[in-house]
Amino acid sequence: MKVVITGNMGYVGPVLAQHLRRVFPRAELVGFDSGLFAHCLTTAERFPESQLSLQVFGDVRSLGASLLQGADAVVHLAAVSNDPMGNRFEEVTDEINFRSSIEIAKKARDAGVKNFVFASSCSVYGFAEGGPRKESDPLNPLTAYARSKIATEKALRELELGQMNATCLRFATACGMSDRLRLDLVLNDFVAGALTSKEISVLSDGTPWRPLIDVRDMARAIEWAIGRESVNGGQFLAVNAGSDQWNYQVGELAEAVATEIPGTRTSINTNAPPDKRSYRVDFSLFRSLAPNHQPTVTLAQSVQGLRDGLRAINFSDSNFRASKNVRLRVLDDHIASGRLTEQLRWSGA
Ligand SMILES: NC(=O)c1ccc[n+]([C@@H]2O[C@H](COP(=O)([O-])OP(=O)(O)OC[C@H]3O[C@@H](n4cnc5c(N)ncnc54)[C@H](O)[C@@H]3O)[C@@H](O)[C@H]2O)c1
Repeated sequence: MKVVITGNMGYVGPVLAQHLRRVFPRAELVGFDSGLFAHCLTTAERFPESQLSLQVFGDVRSLGASLLQGADAVVHLAAVSNDPMGNRFEEVTDEINFRSSIEIAKKARDAGVKNFVFASSCSVYGFAEGGPRKESDPLNPLTAYARSKIATEKALRELELGQMNATCLRFATACGMSDRLRLDLVLNDFVAGALTSKEISVLSDGTPWRPLIDVRDMARAIEWAIGRESVNGGQFLAVNAGSDQWNYQVGELAEAVATEIPGTRTSINTNAPPDKRSYRVDFSLFRSLAPNHQPTVTLAQSVQGLRDGLRAINFSDSNFRASKNVRLRVLDDHIASGRLTEQLRWSGA
């Protein structure tokens, strides 16, 4: 089996590579990434890409079709991957997240790939009152990032897929330890705050709802989508990926972290304007289609994994919101130093 993973050198990619290597020990696993965050390692051990059969460096805006020849599945993670980056690089987000995703899907179809897996996001629900959102409910994207995910889903739905299945996994907000940890994610930020300054500062009044998923469970969902048959959900499928129990209010997350890391103070900003993003998500479709690939990690385990992983690298940067664990900051640094253009292409490449 051959699996091509784009955007594998980010936060999710290393955890996915390790998981796929374990469940498919003989698979040919090929990574493709421009390496924007290649240096942002948070591991004390090995280079995560050593799990792969091959690492290719390149831009998804010009991915050569030959890489996809003989592939059984393409897992398309490469993206401008959160709201702050999407706001800063709005046009590029459309180009990378939407237009090149569709070009790659067409190349995958033409190369005879059986499964195209697209990393979508529950942020397509944006702000949603009145109960958990199902896939068939109206979408309410609030950002360029969310709009790019919806545009890709829509174009994939309308694409002539040939023999290929397309699965859009609408992931809940990720959390948990990775060899390239991000601290621009709510739970990860809280754990880093608790460890480095014994304080969690919640940048809202704590009431917004946010579904979460541990990165290890994201990898299990992707494993499922890699082998999905069209009888299970249809040739095109957009499905919420997470679990009903993991719909939390932000204040509850802070309390959960404080429980695992005793001595932590939590400051809720009661004067904060209401967070515009707030939604609960219904994961029953995913439960019925993928009963053997349901999330298994508990919130406490996720927090413990972050705590232990950060302690293992002696993480002590209380100013971590301005560190290389925050993606927008890394891109801004690259651009300020002339390494990267505003179009997110390496200078001189
Ligand atoms: N982390 C989350 O909370 C979350 C939630 C839902 C969905 N997702 C989606 O999952 C995917 C992976 O997320 P992540 O957290 O690992 O993101 P990440 O930003 O950590 O990694 C993305 C990777 O894509 C690469 N990339 C970006 N532009 C590229 C280009 N033009 N050409 C080649 N490579 C490029 C980057 O170098 C990086 O290694 C993304 O599509 C993201 O939108 C993430």
